[in-house]
Amino acid sequence: MSLLKRTNYCGEARISDVGSSITVNGWVQRSRRLGALIFTDLRDKTGIIQVVFDEDVPEAVFASAETLRNEFVVGVSGTIRERESKNGDIPTGEVEILAKELVIYSEAETPPIYIKDDDNVDENLRLKYRYLDLRKQKMQNNLSFRADVCRLIRNYYADNGFTEVETPVLIAPTPEGARDYLVPSRVHPKNFYALPQSPQMYKQLLMAGGTDRYFQIVKCFRDEDLRADRQPEFTQVDLEMSFVEEDDVIEIQEGFIKKLMKQTKNIDVKLPLPRLTYEEAMNRYGSDKPDTRFKMELIDVSDRITLMEHRAAVEAENSEEGVSEGASSGFVVFSNAIASGGSVRGIVVDGGSDHFSRKDLDKLTDTCKAYGAKGLMWMRIKEDGVQTSFSKFYKEDELRHLASDFGARKGDLILISADTNKVVFATLGFLRCEIAKRLDLIDKNRFDFLWVVEFPLFEKDEETGELSAMHHPFTSPNPDDVARLVSDPLSVRAQAYDIVLNGSEIGGGSIRIHDKNLQAKMFEALGLSPETTQSKFGFLLEAFRYGVPPHGGLAYGLDRLVMILLGEDSIRETIAFPKNQAAEDPVSGAPSAAEPDALAELGIRI
Ligand code: AMO
Repeated sequence: MSLLKRTNYCGEARISDVGSSITVNGWVQRSRRLGALIFTDLRDKTGIIQVVFDEDVPEAVFASAETLRNEFVVGVSGTIRERESKNGDIPTGEVEILAKELVIYSEAETPPIYIKDDDNVDENLRLKYRYLDLRKQKMQNNLSFRADVCRLIRNYYADNGFTEVETPVLIAPTPEGARDYLVPSRVHPKNFYALPQSPQMYKQLLMAGGTDRYFQIVKCFRDEDLRADRQPEFTQVDLEMSFVEEDDVIEIQEGFIKKLMKQTKNIDVKLPLPRLTYEEAMNRYGSDKPDTRFKMELIDVSDRITLMEHRAAVEAENSEEGVSEGASSGFVVFSNAIASGGSVRGIVVDGGSDHFSRKDLDKLTDTCKAYGAKGLMWMRIKEDGVQTSFSKFYKEDELRHLASDFGARKGDLILISADTNKVVFATLGFLRCEIAKRLDLIDKNRFDFLWVVEFPLFEKDEETGELSAMHHPFTSPNPDDVARLVSDPLSVRAQAYDIVLNGSEIGGGSIRIHDKNLQAKMFEALGLSPETTQSKFGFLLEAFRYGVPPHGGLAYGLDRLVMILLGEDSIRETIAFPKNQAAEDPVSGAPSAAEPDALAELGIRI
C-alpha cells in the first residue's frame, strides 16, 4: 500500500481553490452511488469534503470506490472543482474533489455509534467507544480548545516568572479531605502509597526549597462521589508563590483571566474582578459559588416574621383570656425556624406567578428535600391580593407588608424557606439557579467571574460535632481573628479565596501558615494530637524548621474551566478518556481483578 501524501485537511478547500490539485486523508462519513457517479464524504478533524468518482477515473479506482463504507480510512487525490448543488451547512460546501486516485488504508466494520455531533446515543456507549466518539468534530474541537488553554497557561505563568515543576504521584496521603486512592508497595509489604489529591504539600516544599514561583498542569486523584463537574482523576493548574499576600496571588490570576478570555473568547474582562466575602455570598445568593448572571437574590424577612409572630402570640394570649376572638394564630414553621436560630428568607421570581402551577411547586418542594428542606412556602401577588400557602396564619395586611418587604410586584411569585440558615441557604441557593434555568434567564454568552474571600477557617461536622479545616490545615487564619483560634474557632476567617465562574468553583487557594507556633495552634484547634500531626505532616513541619518564606497559592480545576468556556454541561466532554458515573474506565474496563500472582507478590490476599 502506498500512502497518498496529504496536501490539505478535509475542511480547508474553498471556492478560491477551484482548479488546484489536492490530496486528503480521512474517514468515510458516507458513500453512495448515484447513477454513474459515486459521492463520498470524507472527514478528518477539521471537517468534511465531498469527493466524486466519475467514469473518467481508471476502472480499478472506480471499482475500489464502490466498496467504500462508513469509517473506511482512505486517501484521495484529485482536483478541486465547484459543486453543482452547494451545501451551505459546511465550510467546504461550495466545492468538491473530482477524484483521480484512491487508496484504502483500512476497512471498517459497521461502527456501534454514529459519528455525528448531534447523535443522542447513551453516554456509556459513547465512552466505551471513545475512539469513535472522538472522531466527532465537536470532540476534536474540545480537545484542541483545551490544548489552546494549556498553551496559554504555560506561556502566561512562565512569562510571570513561574517555574513548571513536576511533583511525585506515588506519595503519602494529602490533606484535601476526600478519600485517597491507595497503591500497594511490593518492596514494603503492608505499606501503601497514596495518589495525590493535589500537590499541596509538595508545592509548599518547593517554596521552602527556594523555587519562589511554581506552577504545574497536574493530574489529581480523589475517590469521591461523582457529578457532572467531578471526576476521580482530574487536572489542576496548580501554583504557589513566595513572599506574597492574598492580593498578590489574586492579581496574578486576574491577569491570567483577562488574557484567557481575550484570547479564547475575544471578551474584555474588566479588572479587578468583583470580590464577595463568604458571608455576603451566602446572604445574597445562598451559595459560596454564586451565579451572578441573573439576580433573584435572597431576601431575609426574619424581622418582619418576628413582628408578625409577636402580634399573633399576643392575640393568642388575649384570645385565651377571652379578650379577642378568632385571631390568626401564627405559623409554627416560621416561628420555630427563628426560635432555633435559623431564618426565614425567600426569592422573588419576577412575573413568576403564572409560570408555576400548584403541581410544579409541589414538585419543586420535593426536589428541595435533597437540600434538607422540609417544605417550601410560596406567595403569589395577584391582581386581587396576595395568595399564599400560609394565609390562614396571618392577617391580610401582614401578608401585604411581607410581600412589599420582598419588593414583589403584581404577577410575581415568592418562594420562601424557613429553617436553619444552612438549609435555607442550600434550598434557596439551589432554587434560584434551577428557576433561572427553567425560565431561561441565563445569558449563555456571559462569563461572570468573581472572587469569594474570607471563608471561615473551620467547619463543623453536624453529626460528630468535630471541627475540620474548610480548605486545608495549612491555610492561614485572618490575622485579626487569630486570638479566637482556640476559644471561638467557628468565628475565625481564613485567608482563603475561591474563584467562581458562572456559579461554578473553578479554583481555590489560600495564604499558608509559615509560622510553626501558629501551625501548632491550628492543629490544636482541629483537635489533632502532636503524634497525629507528626505522622501525617511531619515532613512538611520539619522542612519549615529550616527557614520558610511566607507563601500562598491557588489551584484551578482545568476541566471545569474548559467545560464552562466551551459551554458544556459535563467535564467529561473536555477529557479524552474520562471515567463514567461508576468511576470505571469504559474503554479499558478498569478497574478489574488483579492476577493472583500480582497479588501474591504484593503480599495481598483477597
Ligand atoms: P481544591 O480542593 O479547592 O484546592 O481544588 C482546586 C480546584 O480543583 C477543582 N476540583 C475538581 N475538578 C474535577 N473533579 C474533582 N473531583 C475536583 N475536585 C476539585 C475545582 C477546585 O476549585 N491544594 C488546594 C489548592 C490550594 O490551596 O492551592 C486544592 O486542591 O475547580
